[in-house]
Amino acid sequence: MKALVLAGGSGTRLRPFSYSMPKQLIPIANTPVLVHVLRGVRDLGVTEAGVVVGDRGPEIEAVLGDGSRFGLRITYIPQDAPRGLAHAVSVARGFLGDDDFVMYLGDNMLPDGITGIAEQFAAHRPAAQVVVHKVPDPRSFGVAELGPDGEVLALAEKPAHPRSDMALIGVYFFTPAIHEAVRAIGPSARGELEITDAIQWLVSSGADVRAGQYDGYWKDTGEVEGVLECNSRLLDRLGRRVGGHVDDASVLVGRVVVEAGARVLRSLVQGPAIIGAGTVVEDSHVGPYTSIGRNCVVAGSRLESSMALDGAKVTGVLGLRDSLIGRAALVGTTGAGADHHCLVVGDHTRVEVAA
Ligand code: DAU
Repeated sequence: MKALVLAGGSGTRLRPFSYSMPKQLIPIANTPVLVHVLRGVRDLGVTEAGVVVGDRGPEIEAVLGDGSRFGLRITYIPQDAPRGLAHAVSVARGFLGDDDFVMYLGDNMLPDGITGIAEQFAAHRPAAQVVVHKVPDPRSFGVAELGPDGEVLALAEKPAHPRSDMALIGVYFFTPAIHEAVRAIGPSARGELEITDAIQWLVSSGADVRAGQYDGYWKDTGEVEGVLECNSRLLDRLGRRVGGHVDDASVLVGRVVVEAGARVLRSLVQGPAIIGAGTVVEDSHVGPYTSIGRNCVVAGSRLESSMALDGAKVTGVLGLRDSLIGRAALVGTTGAGADHHCLVVGDHTRVEVAA
């Protein structure tokens, strides 16, 4: 079986971060989503992965390389524009050949793994096997209606009135039967070739399409709230590892990772938390549920349930919570005695100060 990982798309829901990086590279517990995804792919025993990329391809390639550090051989497959998940399958036709494949959306996190569902697919080999997860409000996802034995009866993409609470999550198993379906469908109302429509085409033509239910933790990291929530959940799974320097005046409580080359001075770090390589934390209180990227400075500040990405600087700010601070961004205070806020706010940025 091969893998097809989808890392194109526009990422409008993750602005402003997606202005300067592909959304699939946003770090969760200081590791890009796509790296988590490729580890999930490798855990299925796959060795050949195609990664579909749009105009952000070079940045993705710079991070993933040839895949050897994940035990994978990666082929990069360009897609000229985000024309839909089924379009991504069609541009990968040459790479996929007549092999079965698992398609994995590059912004979906399934940290509990899907090896059980992969085994079901290998054992029964239906034309397609989708992965579903019960959600309270499925309107922003593909939705599957299932029969009593897990057979798929019908599918709909982001329906206004869902007929089931089973959302399609970002992993699909396909036999080559999907290629005829992809050729047969036309664009949806949002102008994309939907994989949901291609799978529905298989169902309508009488093919065996099944669903495997994933009961673990799942998050589509395409929105800021999802990123923060997923970050907390992954930090919860960290062990304690201290590779950097922690001075005698600092205290680390619980599951804290201090990467090699980081320095923690006169500070309290409350786990779960991670402090990236090259970062300095001084006179601060960091955590719980907080990740600080590489080469950051956190000084005289208090951060909780937050993320600071590489190169960010937070100085003299107490009471930051549920915040996502972008790369090389500065969050600080105006000079002593100042009675005003001074903001340089980029496009589609959100600033909320306590009233
Ligand atoms: O997250 C699960 C949902 O993913 C499913 O429930 C939906 O049925 C499915 O259509 C998809 O919906 P989204 O609207 O969230 O998909 P999104 O546009 O975010 O794209 C998913 C991934 O695929 C993302 O990493 C970008 C990539 N992509 C997307 C498009 C449209 C491509 O590589 N090429 C594309 O043309």
